[in-house]
Amino acid sequence: MTGLNACITSVAAYVPEHKLTNAMLENMVETTDEWILSRTGIKERRILKEKHLATSDMAAEAVNRLLTKRNIDPKSIDLLICGTVTPDMPFPATANLITAKCALTNAFGFDLGAACSGFLFALETGRRYIESGAYKKVIVVGADTMSSIINYEDRNTCIIFGDGAGAVLLEPTTDKSLGIQDSILRTDGEGAKFLHQKAGGSLNPASQQTIDEDMHYVYQEGKHVFKFAVTEMANVCEEIMKKNQLTNEDLDWLVPHQANLRIIEATRQQVNLDPAKVMINIEKYGNTTAATLPLCLSDWESKLKKGDKLVLTTFGGGFTWGAIYLVWAYS
Ligand code: UT7
Repeated sequence: MTGLNACITSVAAYVPEHKLTNAMLENMVETTDEWILSRTGIKERRILKEKHLATSDMAAEAVNRLLTKRNIDPKSIDLLICGTVTPDMPFPATANLITAKCALTNAFGFDLGAACSGFLFALETGRRYIESGAYKKVIVVGADTMSSIINYEDRNTCIIFGDGAGAVLLEPTTDKSLGIQDSILRTDGEGAKFLHQKAGGSLNPASQQTIDEDMHYVYQEGKHVFKFAVTEMANVCEEIMKKNQLTNEDLDWLVPHQANLRIIEATRQQVNLDPAKVMINIEKYGNTTAATLPLCLSDWESKLKKGDKLVLTTFGGGFTWGAIYLVWAYS
């Protein structure tokens, strides 16, 4: 132990301009604004329309904003970790493309695949590099272009997902009362069958057949995923709060993965938290997979105060889920 904690010291995000509204989806698949809003809480999502742009471009925009707002020299960044399931291409890693686009010439980078928990797992990874004393400036990105793997004829998935990117800067502090305090992370590969993308990997490389059978799109058995998500996200929040003797009064903010408003509400109820303490922006972005948590932090950054206690929590494909308890380090 080095006596160092890892703190988030800057947050930034980027979402594309183009909005895909529920009314537009009504013209694409058999659905209604009323059904989508009441079953998910989503009104619109952002879509990366420009064909020459990809996940690394949204992420680079978020990272550049992050550096500019704190006037940080790109050369001072040691490491960039990118949580994503929609890399620009299978290799090189999207993190490598982002470091080049942002002139992080002294940084190394890698991607981390944990679907909707990608940012949470990457945050825990970045935390450990900082706590070890190995690196002083680590950028953690959550970015996904879900529109690139969604079948816009499948109403089970196309109504939920959107595109976006967010990034945080991690730096060390010797003040142990600040920064990341604890984490509980979980995976269960038995859940893979309920939420996955069949083709494009080594099991089903791209072929005429994989294209004909729509195997490059997201496959989700929503009801099954919902059942696990609603139980496990709530349980892991309760577990991390108990483990750290945090009451519902102590906790200032719950930062939940934005997959479905009903899952968020069930989690809030289980830990009996005041609704005003829950970050919710699903109505305007939908489910942006690895980007949901940094998009929330960015939207709420101006309201966050030094010393605020936050629990970040996710549930997603894998299955992957977990929670991180941290104390905000700046106002
Ligand atoms: O972030 C990664 C993790 N993912 C999640 O956490 C997603 C979890 N799952 C969900 O959020 C929900 O399961 C969905 C939003 C995907 C679906 O909501 P649901 O309440 O579970 O709907 P359902 O699949 O049980 O379908 C209920 C009814 C069905 O009709 P019948 O059989 O009752 O007549 C569906 O055919 O709603 C119908 N339906 C739709 N109707 C209008 C399903 N999708 C739609 C739709 N528009 N888009």
